[in-house]
Amino acid sequence: EDDGPQPEKHCGHGRGGMGEEVSRKEDKRFITGRGNYVDDIKKPGMLHCEIVRSPHAHARVKDIDGSRAEAMDDVVAVLTAEDLLEHDLATMPTLMDDTQDVLVNDKVKFQSQEVAAVIAKDRYAAKDGAERVEVDYEVLDPVVDAADALEEDAPLIRDELDDQEDNHIFDWETGDREATEAVFDDAAVTIEEDMEYQRLHPAPIETCGAVADWDPGMDKMTVHMTSQAPHAHRTLFSQVSGIPEHKVRIVSPDVGGGFGNKVPIYPGYVVAAAASYVLEEPVKWVEERSENIQTTGFARDYDMTGELAATEDGEITGVKVDVLANHGAYNAAAQPSKFPAGFFNIFTGSYDIEAAYGSLTAAFTNTAPGGVAYRCSFRVTEAVYLIERLVKVLADELDVDPAEIRRKNFIPSEAFPYESATGWNYDSGDYEKALDKALEMADYDHYREEQQRRIEEDADKLLGIGISSFTEVVGAGPGKQCDIAGIEMFDSADLRVNPTGNAVLRVGVQTQGQGHETTFAQIVAEELGMDVDSITVEHGDTDTEPYGLGTYGSRSTPVAGAAAAVAARKVRDKAKSIAANELEAAEEDIEWDRESGEFHVAGAPDRSITITEIAAGAYMNHPDSEEPGLEATNYYDPPEMTYPFGSYIVVVEVDRETGEVDFEKFVAVDDCGNRINPMIIEGQIHGGLAQGIGTAMMEEVTYDDNGNVTGGDFMNYLLPTANEIPNFETGHTVTPSPHHPIGAKGVGESPTVGSPPAIVNAVTDAMTHAGVSHVEMPMTPDVVWEHLDEVGLAQ
Ligand code: CDP
Repeated sequence: EDDGPQPEKHCGHGRGGMGEEVSRKEDKRFITGRGNYVDDIKKPGMLHCEIVRSPHAHARVKDIDGSRAEAMDDVVAVLTAEDLLEHDLATMPTLMDDTQDVLVNDKVKFQSQEVAAVIAKDRYAAKDGAERVEVDYEVLDPVVDAADALEEDAPLIRDELDDQEDNHIFDWETGDREATEAVFDDAAVTIEEDMEYQRLHPAPIETCGAVADWDPGMDKMTVHMTSQAPHAHRTLFSQVSGIPEHKVRIVSPDVGGGFGNKVPIYPGYVVAAAASYVLEEPVKWVEERSENIQTTGFARDYDMTGELAATEDGEITGVKVDVLANHGAYNAAAQPSKFPAGFFNIFTGSYDIEAAYGSLTAAFTNTAPGGVAYRCSFRVTEAVYLIERLVKVLADELDVDPAEIRRKNFIPSEAFPYESATGWNYDSGDYEKALDKALEMADYDHYREEQQRRIEEDADKLLGIGISSFTEVVGAGPGKQCDIAGIEMFDSADLRVNPTGNAVLRVGVQTQGQGHETTFAQIVAEELGMDVDSITVEHGDTDTEPYGLGTYGSRSTPVAGAAAAVAARKVRDKAKSIAANELEAAEEDIEWDRESGEFHVAGAPDRSITITEIAAGAYMNHPDSEEPGLEATNYYDPPEMTYPFGSYIVVVEVDRETGEVDFEKFVAVDDCGNRINPMIIEGQIHGGLAQGIGTAMMEEVTYDDNGNVTGGDFMNYLLPTANEIPNFETGHTVTPSPHHPIGAKGVGESPTVGSPPAIVNAVTDAMTHAGVSHVEMPMTPDVVWEHLDEVGLAQ
């Protein structure tokens, strides 16, 4: 009953096609220790690079003395900005048209910024060498908070930029201000809430690293690196280094998690490449955990004030938001360039709201640069958090059940395709169905009664129930709307069927653990009727793969997944004429039977042939009308993004004595359109929910007033472990995307985007009866206890 309309019939034909729980092909090498990560790469004569980092957040570099390091036996070189300047490599472009120092040329702008590099024969020597580099700093006053940075007397961070007189970067607005003000003026009810989305770190298990290898014989630079976007990185490498693009090869081997952290180019990659070029030896740079947390792309850091306008009976008529964004010392957010605040203007969420207006100001601070899309499509996480929190606040204001107020305001399923007040074109949705399913799975009415009972009995542990009915936007492009550093966000697939009937699919996206080697093979298996085991998926080598924009923002399935399906259909079209030749029938009499995975002659089902059997014919007995071979390429520019959605319901127990929060129930109903591999989707949901719990309950990169990163290692930046993760109950509905060739939407980021508001809504809900309207993340026990204490609930 959940499997709604299908754009094309998917049969799960038993050969590993759509909807089958095929075991992950990649797991054999991962669980037998045969994964191949950057740090596994060893090359003859390979040198090691260690970065010297600033202990200060804001300081002028007066002098760098590397002589004590250079005097060490195994140290080969000490590099500073001066050395890089010789090769025009002292600076590099960020993802938002800013320019970042590769090694500090004049002034340090955040703690742990790259100041010099030591190249040595082994990693220990490089580290010892780095400790002996002496840097003379003139320490300056830092500013780490975005609001403070915009004060008139704040220290000017970017004094090297002409025309930069303060720390203001840009203002942005969206929606219709006047119409929204008018709706607010007429509203029977309005609510307002301040909320912060704290600075987070994407924290992949594998930190960033590279092995750069300049080959002077071939004039070619090969860089093995932890990249979520190898082709885009090749273009950037070529632009920065001046090495022609066909002489740059980026290889992304196995990548141990990316989550947006491996989208930007970091100074370490450039230093390793520059060192290899100068020294003519391979150079490896692999950062440590604290370097990863303290210096690479952070996420979120939005300070938001949101408002809703509504009628007395809870119809939402307007939404307003004002944001202060901390972008760190350089403007390096990963945003498709036509959207300076990313996709934040999706903040009308799942609701049919008449008027919307948003404004945002971005500021420089003495903190690491970032604003990457951490398991998220460019600020959609902040937008979802905002609207889902506001809806809960409104429900409490009106004393209406939060499920009912959502139901009342949902975009109705018959309204799709739907254009939101801020101009987004939602492809398909059935929000009420997902909510109803979640309510039933969560035994919602029972928990509401139990909550009331505990309040009446003055119980030690309060119950809170939180809902989030989120809408996501994933699958950037279209190219006309979205680009990274000017390159349109299409994606690609190249499919070659071999004479012996197996195939290689090469894709422009880059898995970091999501299981593409399995699911992309399933798409081809579905389209060509082949066995999934006879299809190999390759990615991550720019010398062989077609150009693609990489994997982030759950774009792989919506974009490259579509390209794989279209390429397979092109192959099928060609195979049809070969089938006619082999079956000695006219091409118009040949029919494709998806169920059996065969072509057969119309009216004569026993005269049939599979694509595997045809493959030989394509090379040995091709029809005169066709070229030999059986292959096709597709570059797919999506007509629109896809809009997965879901309803999550979280029940928590809040301990009035300790402020501790326990998860009593955690229900997640997701809809990602047609499902390729339910088992992999389940894994994606579990992982993303764990990250959502980390966000809501414990994670934050913090700074002290001197600009020291106080949450810069895993002792202080707390990740959830199995101990903190409850049992998830997952469910799904299926609302296919009408414009995607296989009706699929992305899913990877939905749980990380959708779950934090459900969790915060739950914890707040436990204290709503006493007047608590909001609890800031991370909701550590002390934070929760403060709220309990404030409203007289603490014991
Ligand atoms: O871009 P990324 O791979 O991170 O995200 P995604 O496109 O949402 O896909 C995550 C994983 O879930 C991939 O292995 C997909 O092929 C799989 N998936 C699926 O099986 N069915 C869907 N409708 C969407 C994703």
